Amino acid sequence: MWPLIKSTILTLASIYFLSPSFASPLPHEPRERDFSNLRARNIVSDSSDIQSSYDFIIVGGGLAGLVLASRLSEDSNHTVLVLEAGESGDANITQINTPADTYYDSLVGSEYDYAYQTVQQAGCANRNVSWPRGKVLGGSSAINGMYLVRPNQPEINALHSINPNDTNEFWTWDSYYAAMKKSEIFDAPSADIASEAGIQYNAESYGTNGPIHWSYPGETFNLVGNWTPSLLTLGIPTNADAASGDNSGAYITTSSINPSNWTRSYSRSGYIDPLPPRSNLDILPSATVTNIVWKSRTTGNLTATGVQWASSSTAAKQTVNANKEVILAAGSIGSTQVLQLSGVGPSKYLQAAGVDVQLDLPGVGQRLQDHLSGSLIYSTNAETAGDMHNDGVATAEFLSYINSATAYVNLTTLFGSDSASALISSAQAEVDSSASSFLPLGDSTVAAGYKAIYDTITNQFYSSNSGQIELLLSITSTSVLIQAAIQHPLSAGELYITSNSAFDYPYINPNYLAHDADLTILREGFKLARLVSQASPLSTYLSGETTPGSSVSTDDQWNAWIESAVGTEYHPTGTCAMLPLDLGGVVSPSLLVYGTSNVRVADASVYPFDLSSHLGAPTYGLAEQASTIIRDYWNGVSTNPNSTTSSSSPSSSSSSNPANSNTNTALRPITSAYGLIGVFGAIASLMMVL
Ligand SMILES: Cc1cc2nc3c(=O)[nH]c(=O)nc-3n(C[C@H](O)[C@H](O)[C@H](O)COP(=O)(O)OP(=O)(O)OC[C@H]3O[C@@H](n4cnc5c(N)ncnc54)[C@H](O)[C@@H]3O)c2cc1C
Ligand SMILES: *[C@@H]1O[C@H](CO)[C@@H](O)[C@H](O)[C@H]1NC(C)=O
Ligand SMILES: *[C@@H]1O[C@H](CO)[C@@H](O)[C@H](O)[C@H]1NC(C)=O
Ligand SMILES: *[C@@H]1O[C@H](CO)[C@@H](O)[C@H](O)[C@H]1NC(C)=O
Ligand SMILES: *[C@@H]1O[C@H](CO)[C@@H](O)[C@H](O)[C@H]1NC(C)=O
Ligand SMILES: *[C@@H]1O[C@H](CO)[C@@H](O)[C@H](O)[C@H]1NC(C)=O
Ligand SMILES: *[C@@H]1O[C@H](CO)[C@@H](O)[C@H](O)[C@H]1NC(C)=O
Ligand SMILES: *[C@@H]1O[C@H](CO)[C@@H](O)[C@H](O)[C@H]1NC(C)=O
Ligand SMILES: *[C@@H]1O[C@H](CO)[C@@H](O)[C@H](O)[C@H]1NC(C)=O
Repeated sequence: MWPLIKSTILTLASIYFLSPSFASPLPHEPRERDFSNLRARNIVSDSSDIQSSYDFIIVGGGLAGLVLASRLSEDSNHTVLVLEAGESGDANITQINTPADTYYDSLVGSEYDYAYQTVQQAGCANRNVSWPRGKVLGGSSAINGMYLVRPNQPEINALHSINPNDTNEFWTWDSYYAAMKKSEIFDAPSADIASEAGIQYNAESYGTNGPIHWSYPGETFNLVGNWTPSLLTLGIPTNADAASGDNSGAYITTSSINPSNWTRSYSRSGYIDPLPPRSNLDILPSATVTNIVWKSRTTGNLTATGVQWASSSTAAKQTVNANKEVILAAGSIGSTQVLQLSGVGPSKYLQAAGVDVQLDLPGVGQRLQDHLSGSLIYSTNAETAGDMHNDGVATAEFLSYINSATAYVNLTTLFGSDSASALISSAQAEVDSSASSFLPLGDSTVAAGYKAIYDTITNQFYSSNSGQIELLLSITSTSVLIQAAIQHPLSAGELYITSNSAFDYPYINPNYLAHDADLTILREGFKLARLVSQASPLSTYLSGETTPGSSVSTDDQWNAWIESAVGTEYHPTGTCAMLPLDLGGVVSPSLLVYGTSNVRVADASVYPFDLSSHLGAPTYGLAEQASTIIRDYWNGVSTNPNSTTSSSSPSSSSSSNPANSNTNTALRPITSAYGLIGVFGAIASLMMVL
């Protein structure tokens, strides 16, 4: 494929979108077109255009927030407002849309990135580790690496078993898998791409009619095609159906690319832009929620009456009322911050930050976990995406190239069964000491929850076919990188506010590598990554390891290098954990914040433990489940996902793509319907279960 492309070098000003086969170039829009004219009409630019109250206020227009906005506003009798701290993204839409700009013109580090830093990590040579997070409509889905990986079935089922009150079984595989599929549309790769990259797939394991494209780039490289055969020589099988619930083994995974024009498929482009104007939906960028407003109460649950927001730290706060619910979708950092700023969290930390305690809920911000990763770097004589980029190649196909060669490797493959058993036993013996040293808050329910998570990891995930290490191939520089990332850290830390301002960054401490088992597993992952570089046929393309190189080979040398080199894989979670209250949980299986009657959290912060998957794909499913739970509750239907009443609601009807829904042009029933809904809401709230 390379000679063909090289002969068609096009300048940025004259790029044409070619058909995947290159047979018949279709003239198309040049890449510099003004994408901003596609601004969806549901996005309001002026705060004077929003109403004084809405049924649902969604805090954060990121990955999960825009799924909720789209699905909740399908019911024309509900009004929905999204408040997003970041801008619309229109000023830099080409960088958002172009997959390869993720590497060559990244928005990480731009004004669309919060650019958080952890506190110094003792396990990482006392470095502050940088933590990018999207601050723009679409959230981190607008700036992320676009890997779409299906999580592993036993890990989803563990969400259910750790939550005995999940009586409606939303967090079991069958239900969750259906919700994930509802968010997706699978596009098969072209025959050329499939053959060159060695892509295998089972189309039936994906959704067919949802908003987010699960597909493959329009360009690939021989190197990619050498991934699965090389791993096979190391006993890592090739998985030809990685999306059906067993995500183990090696494969070329899907990416969030719309192949009709090789653009990023993310929560805004999938769930919002295709919508016709919905009179019951407003999305306001540049609006940071500073706190939830509570109804005054002496005893009983907290009830939110709305939120306050501001466009900057110096601008006046404004208030908007919520008739039904406030839904936090501000992500693992933002949702935690907003709860704590609103007086819900560990009272010790809230008082220290100068916030009045409304509800002492110790789990908020505790047990912060993250995937930690690093890269071995090899020089190569083979063609890489980086070479082509340096040569000025910028066809739309080329710019859709995104890394996607993946492998999830279990503990027995990493260690052999005897050493794996020894590691499991020694880790199990450290549960109490880990709980007390990693979680200085000292709350007994939080510690009990940490131990339940720990048991899940060491008893279930360690001893099953669950990926403990993820390997990734990256060829977007002129070198070849083989990355390793730990998937189920036992290290955990905490996140809390240190002032009463939403504009100040919180204390972020994931306690990277505080647990010795994490370091041992990650070290074995890097040793395996090095073996991959030496495995044929990949080895024939590589001409030497430049990082860390041959001076690193003993365990001590690996440890020292790891501590100096690893960083986030961008998957923080656990801070608003869905766990029973006596395990220091923050939300119930209905995603309601314990002790509140109408505040939910629906984003990547609610997983009690990290999954062996990049977190974007599972979070689309989570947001779809949340939308169904909320709609069913307010529409008075059973929340059992198996029930026939629920399946007759639009949320689970055949119209999976919100753009196809015909309920969305109804007029906003601002005044007319509220009386009725108010009465209905009062009846419904009697039925609310945690
Ligand atoms: C650089 C990077 C690369 C990644 N690569 C991948 C990948 O390749 N594949 C993958 O699956 N996942 C990847 N991820 C992770 C994935 O993008 C996230 O897990 C996912 O976006 C989380 O969704 P969310 O809705 O919880 O949060 P987000 O998508 O981060 O959305 C949260 C939103 O809330 C807003 N917000 C926060 N606080 C407030 C407030 N007070 N008021 C109003 N709004 C607020 C934020 O501005 C943001 O828009 C990556 C993440 C990053 C940062
Ligand atoms: C709201 O609309 C949905 C369908 O869009 C319907 O199922 C539900 O009953 C309606 N609720 C009320 C209170 O009218
Ligand atoms: C985004 O657009 C703004 C306005 O045009 C510009 O000032 C800024 O430099 C752009 N950011 C990036 C990362 O290109
Ligand atoms: C680095 O961490 C230290 C505490 O460990 C903290 O005081 C400092 O502010 C951090 N630096 C940044 C840039 O966040
Ligand atoms: C839902 O369906 C599954 C599979 O048919 C069944 O095992 C499960 O018990 C059902 N759940 C409920 C709550 O009825
Ligand atoms: C890409 O194509 C989709 C249709 O599949 C369209 O809705 C979208 O606007 C296009 N995006 C851009 C940036 O042209
Ligand atoms: C780990 O993976 C290997 C390779 O696929 C497999 O043979 C083995 O059964 C797996 N181990 C467990 C405990 O499932
Ligand atoms: C389940 O819910 C009931 C009723 O709300 C509560 O009493 C019980 O403690 C909950 N159990 C768990 C494990 O959270
Ligand atoms: C608090 O709210 C929850 C969820 O709505 C409800 O189940 C519970 O009964 C309420 N408790 C009180 C004391 O009102």
